Amino acid sequence: MVENFAELRSEIEELKRKKGAVIMAHYYTRPEIQAVADFLGDSLALSVEAQKCDAEIILFAGVNFMAETAKVLSPEKKILIPCPEAGCSLAESCDAAEFAEFKKRYPDHLVVSYVNTSVGVKALTDVCCTSSNALKVVESIPAEQPIIFAPDRNLGSYIKKLTGRENIVLWDGACHVHEEFSLEKILQLKSEHPEAKVVVHPECRDYIVKVADFTGSTAAILEYCGECGADEFIVVTESGILEEMRKRFPEKSFIPAPPEDSACACNECRYMKMVTLENLRDCLRDESPEVVIDEATRAAAERSIKNMIAIK
Ligand code: 13P
Ligand code: SF4
Repeated sequence: MVENFAELRSEIEELKRKKGAVIMAHYYTRPEIQAVADFLGDSLALSVEAQKCDAEIILFAGVNFMAETAKVLSPEKKILIPCPEAGCSLAESCDAAEFAEFKKRYPDHLVVSYVNTSVGVKALTDVCCTSSNALKVVESIPAEQPIIFAPDRNLGSYIKKLTGRENIVLWDGACHVHEEFSLEKILQLKSEHPEAKVVVHPECRDYIVKVADFTGSTAAILEYCGECGADEFIVVTESGILEEMRKRFPEKSFIPAPPEDSACACNECRYMKMVTLENLRDCLRDESPEVVIDEATRAAAERSIKNMIAIK
């Protein structure tokens, strides 16, 4: 039986109230998931909030590395994840054992890794970063100190360009969603909407970043759309963000950029969309699945996330 949204929502609200649970969700989740979230944010905001939040039960609506980050920061809390199979192509592009071997080739380098990594990679990392603070994190490291930047080659080369640093070695990983945008289709949209500003996430390929009026993280793009005088935007990032854009700026118009090999008008992260109201309700009701990380791995991963939060 397909249950209706209103019933599911009221069941979820009731479970949250009874259990004192908090739901955190990324902007890329489905609109109906965003609607039941107590806290909605990008990767950085979610990491910071997970550390601050004093609820004993946190349900993380997003991909599994995000829920793991919350568990690393708050081992005493119950961190629930409705869909543990929700992985991330970027995190999967960096296997911890292979990364350990790579790191051995650069013994003098400091490791900066995106939070979109497994706990195993975080344990090999000195400072984590997200797309919101990657520049700040890299700039906090003395210019003469060589760096390994992992796992996103696009964000890494964008940061290399911004800082002009030649001493950054990149791991060759990528996010399947952000790499799939079509330059041709974006240019076509731009010719149909000449006044529109093109806003791009830095996980996109460099030839896409080159045509951007603004490049930034999910939170930075949202801020830009509010502050910039334009009324129309071509949005070159995961399409879940459109929900928040239309909510915050109902008078403006947002056009999703399409991927290369699809008739689809927008580009979705299939992992983020795996969280549904049904599996979220079941997870909250049963308090399962729960994130479990062995203490040695958790403790090894903690330092890199805390170092990032200290820089923010
Ligand atoms: P931000 O939330 O840092 O913008 O990252 C985007 C992303 O791909 C999250 O998985
Ligand atoms: Fe991972 Fe890309 Fe999905 Fe973000 S959008 S969760 S980086 S696959």
